[in-house]
Amino acid sequence: MRRAAVLAAVFAAGAAMAHQGVTNPGVMARMEGMSDLGAATKVLGQMAKGQTAFDAAKAQAAREVIRAEAARVVELFEAPEQDPKSEALPAIWDQFTEFTLKARALEEAAGGDVASLEALRGTFGQIGAACSGCHKAYRK
Ligand code: HEC
Repeated sequence: MRRAAVLAAVFAAGAAMAHQGVTNPGVMARMEGMSDLGAATKVLGQMAKGQTAFDAAKAQAAREVIRAEAARVVELFEAPEQDPKSEALPAIWDQFTEFTLKARALEEAAGGDVASLEALRGTFGQIGAACSGCHKAYRK
């Protein structure tokens, strides 16, 4: 629970329009994909924390967004697009196989159970770990 609360706070802050002023369309596209991940993760985080009522259908929908966006990450990052506003580290393209595995880990975590509040909390923890596992290695 504590961990979920911390993660939710981190994601809420990260969801601000960090991609304003980006001119490279490839960078913009991957940032928008990440923003969608942020928004869907926030929905789960607020439920996990008890800030919003648990709603199995909403949780399921948010988790599907995360799963679908996670499946697009590899394609969105494949070309080593640059932009002064980008927070992507060059290591992504030196270690693209590892990067791919981190995207897969998120896709798998998003397949977790969200049918009850208890299950949602566990799945949310795993999703959060998958997000930060990649950000720590590959985001400034
Ligand atoms: C496989 C690696 C990877 C995973 C998994 C990942 N991210 Fe990211 N994320 C990145 C990278 C790299 C950037 C920086 C992109 C850039 O600035 O070019 C980023 C940027 C972001 C941004 C800022 C977007 C912007 O507008 O600048 C948000 C918000 C974000 N991620 C949320 C999430 C959330 C929430 C999750 C988990 C549900 C997640 N990310 C999972 C790699 C990942």
